[in-house]
Amino acid sequence: MERLQKILAAAGVASRRKCEELILEGKVEVNGETVKTLGVKADPTQDVITVNGRAIQSESKVYLMMNKPKGVITSATDPKGRKVVTDYVTGIKERVYPVGRLDYDTEGLLLLTNDGEFANLLTHPKHHVPKTYLATVEGIPHGDKLEKLKEGIMLEDGMTAPAELEYQDINVEEKQATIRITIYEGRNRQVRRMFEAISHKVIRLKRIKFGDLSLMNLKRGRTRPLTPNEINELKQLALSKKNKERRK
Ligand code: URA
Repeated sequence: MERLQKILAAAGVASRRKCEELILEGKVEVNGETVKTLGVKADPTQDVITVNGRAIQSESKVYLMMNKPKGVITSATDPKGRKVVTDYVTGIKERVYPVGRLDYDTEGLLLLTNDGEFANLLTHPKHHVPKTYLATVEGIPHGDKLEKLKEGIMLEDGMTAPAELEYQDINVEEKQATIRITIYEGRNRQVRRMFEAISHKVIRLKRIKFGDLSLMNLKRGRTRPLTPNEINELKQLALSKKNKERRK
């Protein structure tokens, strides 16, 4: 017997948190009875579980890395019919969804999966999984400004956790700098807002690493499956005590 939201997430319905919402909205039935509270357990091998009247099916787990182009929405569907990241996923029958999100104008490494547990593990704030970006900004920020970002800076939703920053490239002629930044949180538009807080507008943002996983030579708009080793390393990283203590 397992908790219903865990069964739904494992079947690729949505992330664990989204599945909890579906339960609370009364959209889930077990053996014909609507379940409206969290904590109910079921047996996926015995019970008939439906979401919006459709039986769930257990499917094999899929883990993909994508090099997201800019101008694409990080979502599995868009009511307005704009381009979404899953439009780039071909050749698999399983329905995957993004692990966390990148802004419409951010490019780079995005993970996609139908494993709700995995998605939850990597995006939960308490696990502090590092994400590394190349941020090209207007102007050339002084070292003392970067120090502020390293220590933590006040944004409208509170102080940011310490981050790692280093200059990647300085273009004096264009009056632009590219900074490599690693953050351990995943707040909305966080990197853009951090640079705005030191008066440097981000004009290009690319995620180059998720945990220890990097994009390598994956072409823009392409996806590739993660290897079992890569999947395990990401899980270990999220669960490692060292990782948590590093950012306390
Ligand atoms: N920080 C941002 O500002 N945007 C992203 O897409 C990711 C991190």
